[in-house]
Amino acid sequence: MAKGKIVSYTNPTAPASEAFRALRTNLQFLGISEQVSVIAVTGAGPREGKSTTASNLAISVAQAGRSCILIDADLRCPVIHRILATGTQPGLSDVLLGQSTAVQALHDAWVPGLKVMPSGQLPPSPADLLLSPKMAELIADLRTRADMVVIDTPPIGLVSDAAALARVVDGYLLVLGAGRTTRDLARRAKQALETVHGNILGVVLNNMAGQPEYRHYGYGGYGSYGKDKERHRHAR
Ligand SMILES: Nc1ncnc2c1ncn2[C@@H]1O[C@H](COP(=O)(O)OP(=O)(O)OP(=O)(O)O)[C@@H](O)[C@H]1O
Ligand SMILES: [Mg+2]
Repeated sequence: MAKGKIVSYTNPTAPASEAFRALRTNLQFLGISEQVSVIAVTGAGPREGKSTTASNLAISVAQAGRSCILIDADLRCPVIHRILATGTQPGLSDVLLGQSTAVQALHDAWVPGLKVMPSGQLPPSPADLLLSPKMAELIADLRTRADMVVIDTPPIGLVSDAAALARVVDGYLLVLGAGRTTRDLARRAKQALETVHGNILGVVLNNMAGQPEYRHYGYGGYGSYGKDKERHRHAR
């Protein structure tokens, strides 16, 4: 995929790029008063634009001259390495399993000032790994290495991975697909965030006109997220 699909890079004057700059600016203002520098991007359901939003936000931050680290914490369906055209190993899971240092797992992206930590090998229990003290240690370390850390995660309405990060992030950016997010999933996402006292920094309503709706991909519930690898091959 790489540069061609990243609107903030290919078309800086497009309305979407302006929207990402506005998002970056709003988050910077939040940062002044609330010390927001580690942000998890999540959503209610699948295929709503979480990874696209996380990537564009991270690029937009780096383009503004602030150092940024983008972590792929979707340890079920990782795509950040494809969007930013970086290597895949070592990555986040390797650091959490003690098989790599944080520095080794930070890959240079083609945008100056942006580093990417890809997912690494896919573990059997992603939520447990993200909940481990190693994750808290890693985020504390990365806070000292960049102005902002953006973390891409799976949908919080389907699996508990994003919720597992509540204690280590400053807040969540919730991406909802316009006309796609079902009431049921939105309710589940809200409950999941309330349970862990997650701080919602903002909601991005992503208008994905022309994109197939996710029910076409056969999502059946919590268990199905990430298991149907085929659907992830088609678009990228
Ligand atoms: N606003 C948009 N307009 C058109 N296409 C979009 C838009 N946002 C995302 N897409 C495309 O939709 C697909 C899904 O986007 P993305 O991978 O960002 O979603 P996701 O919520 O991270 O999905 P997953 O639940 O699988 O992690 C990608 O092919 C992406 O390029
Ligand atoms: Mg994604």
